[in-house]
Amino acid sequence: MKIIDLRSDTVTLPSNEIRQAIFDAELGDDVFQEDKNVNLLEKQAATLSGKESALLVPSGTMGNLISFLVHCSRGTEAILGNKSHTFIYEAGGISAFGGIHSHQLHNSDDGLINLDHIKQAIRVDNVHFPKTSLISLENTHNMCFGSPISKDYIDQVSNVAKENNLKMHIDGARIFNATTALNITLSSLIENVDSVTFCLSKGLACPIGSVVCGSKDFIESARRMRKALGGGMRQAGIIAAAGLIAINKLETQISEDHDNAQLLADGLNQIDGLDIDKNKVKTNIMYFELKSDTVSSKYLLKEMQNQGILFFEVSPNRYRLVTHYGITQSDIIYTLEAFQKILS
Ligand SMILES: Cc1ncc(COP(=O)(O)O)c(C=O)c1O
Repeated sequence: MKIIDLRSDTVTLPSNEIRQAIFDAELGDDVFQEDKNVNLLEKQAATLSGKESALLVPSGTMGNLISFLVHCSRGTEAILGNKSHTFIYEAGGISAFGGIHSHQLHNSDDGLINLDHIKQAIRVDNVHFPKTSLISLENTHNMCFGSPISKDYIDQVSNVAKENNLKMHIDGARIFNATTALNITLSSLIENVDSVTFCLSKGLACPIGSVVCGSKDFIESARRMRKALGGGMRQAGIIAAAGLIAINKLETQISEDHDNAQLLADGLNQIDGLDIDKNKVKTNIMYFELKSDTVSSKYLLKEMQNQGILFFEVSPNRYRLVTHYGITQSDIIYTLEAFQKILS
């Protein structure tokens, strides 16, 4: 039985082409900056992002942590969303390792933070307060229905950051889902931010790795910070060779993932006992609720699992589904039929 794993796009397995590239990769010591594939990936990532420089890191979590550690000195404050991955799911690393105070502001369903709230959150110079150092956004926003955040909004936040002498970071774990949904280039979307982290290992289907992009000075400091955190990876060309295929070839895959997400959301919307706001589905992530008098959450999850379909209950009777590389249109149709059968 095929397993249709809709829990996350982090479960993607590399294609044969990626596996072959890993096998064939010519390697060197990347801490000495002698690995050709890493150097090439970093160069291409810098060009793609419109930034001066880029750095391969082991994970999105480390990419965000390094960015915060470079932008913020100890005891300063970073403004971020209360539903952001960095606040909720990164083990409090920014405070544990950076002594950075997080100032969490409400994320609305579209992943945005009210601009006035951001302005009001910036600290005035007073001995009682930490100094504000950074504003961080997430794009697409995982917990906010995978919403893509527009350039217009990013630029407005960037203006506020610049007016107040603050840095701006984007957790772009799924930034290529945003550029695809918004039909914009990465360099244009993040033109006015200081740094971005994007993941190779989610929609881009690589087994490991993320990339941080920013100015030459920022990346130089990030490189030192990566070493301090134990993220210098030696023959990292086995990761970069996969990453090069991903950033050059997987754009069409992401469009397909979005089309599959639309198909799935449309189908779920027609099933009695399920509640989904399909207008909120803009990329590859969706949330829906179980509203059935006859089928319990436990039964639904178990029966779907028996059909080979996996997904998470994120809170009571509320579930997340994520489309990604390896999930085909016929898998979506099979999934919808399984839901229909169980709920009827
Ligand atoms: C929005 C977002 N940022 C960062 C991360 C962290 O990435 P990693 O799992 O590579 O540490 C994730 C992981 O799912 C994510 O969804």
